Amino acid sequence: MTGASGTVLLSQCSHKTLSRSQTFPQNYISQDGLLSVDMVAQETPMQLGRNRLKQWGYNGQIPGPRLEAKPGDTIKINFQNQLPQTSNLHYHGLHIPPTGTADNVFVAVPPGEQFSYEFTLPKKHPSGTFWYHPHYHGQVAEQVFKGLAGLLIVRGELDEIPEIQAASEQFLVFQDFTANPNPNLSRGAIMLGREGELVTVNGKLKPEFSIPTQGLVRLHLLNASISRFYRLSLDEHPFYLIATDGGAISEPVELTELLLAPGERVQVLIQGDRPPSQYQLLSLPYDRGTMGMMGHMGLSSSSNPTQAIATFNYTEPVAPTPLPKTLIPITPLPEPQTLRQFTLNHGMNPGMGMVFLINNQAFNHQRIDVKAKLNQIEDWEIINLGGMDHPFHIHVNAFQIISRNQTPEPLLAWKDVVNVRRGETVRLRIQYQDFIGKTVYHCHILDHEDRGMMGILEIA
Ligand code: C2O
Ligand code: CU
Ligand code: CU
Repeated sequence: MTGASGTVLLSQCSHKTLSRSQTFPQNYISQDGLLSVDMVAQETPMQLGRNRLKQWGYNGQIPGPRLEAKPGDTIKINFQNQLPQTSNLHYHGLHIPPTGTADNVFVAVPPGEQFSYEFTLPKKHPSGTFWYHPHYHGQVAEQVFKGLAGLLIVRGELDEIPEIQAASEQFLVFQDFTANPNPNLSRGAIMLGREGELVTVNGKLKPEFSIPTQGLVRLHLLNASISRFYRLSLDEHPFYLIATDGGAISEPVELTELLLAPGERVQVLIQGDRPPSQYQLLSLPYDRGTMGMMGHMGLSSSSNPTQAIATFNYTEPVAPTPLPKTLIPITPLPEPQTLRQFTLNHGMNPGMGMVFLINNQAFNHQRIDVKAKLNQIEDWEIINLGGMDHPFHIHVNAFQIISRNQTPEPLLAWKDVVNVRRGETVRLRIQYQDFIGKTVYHCHILDHEDRGMMGILEIA
């Protein structure tokens, strides 16, 4: 459908009738080194089956417009907040300054106001699947759960590999919504974070994608849900992983299923050389934790039943197409100068109710938790003491996973979210490059982040 040069419209068919209020997706691609976009956060109606929902979107779209730029491009986003709450924008995964008009999550844009973001992608910025969403602490989960999220694609060296350039490309953004927003959350929803019963792909229930008869299919997948995990399989087709959060890996890796924790992205290729038929993209059960003491109160089940969330149609036989043999080489980061440890846990706080803690502390915007030096290499050990998974995310610099429970990580990859399973210790390696200033790290179950599971990292 869209080649590396890209077409402006995301064309993908859905046999569900579009409601009149639904605008056709409008996406934006940089031109002559500049991407300049007006982004209005506003109330956005959504029709999901028989449910008419009042959600929030960017420019009336859920998910928001897909933005595409190249390394070295300047991105200007004139953000207008027409929501009834303070908001802002975060550019998840981009390697840009955490200060000024760039990826500054400390900016607060009150209702009715606007803010002009402007930054330039470094010339050596990796190509990959990034995204944007609000990051105003305390209301992040609510705003993202309302629908505020969109893709930001950086085009570059990965897109120039001939087999990938020739592939047909699809973007799948996973979000879940609820038709019954309940202000009194159950204890399960407080512990594990909210999940909606309406699982959408690109803002639709079970959309259809068609597979061309030639060439590979390249999928960009984003988990933009605030708490829901997606364990995916495409009717037992192999997925060939080509990129993780921070960009390409060094060669395709065959996988039979994919686990995407909140905030994570991957790119995969599928060959689609199966008999013509309709294949289901399945979301499989995944147990992301119990609630310890509360397990016996019937709140322990966190895994959803299998459901088909999209279909892929092959109408004619598909010619098998070879995969690229190699992608973009990755160099392992050198040995670290410092080791830091972070424990993840939760507890009760008299005034606040349930709180989620890093090193036994809830987020405090006046406290600097980590002081780091530019260019230093550090290992972070993330120790999950609780009874549920926490997808741990760091802004500005991507990292490499070294080990899980001392077992060396088999895949060398750039990540910015790592799911730390209950009882697990993950060691990751990070180098603070190019930019100084204050930024954050946090759990990407956004209900946990809002309830304290975040810290401030200052790079000087
Ligand atoms: Cu996608 Cu700080 O988050
Ligand atoms: Cu982020
Ligand atoms: Cu968490």
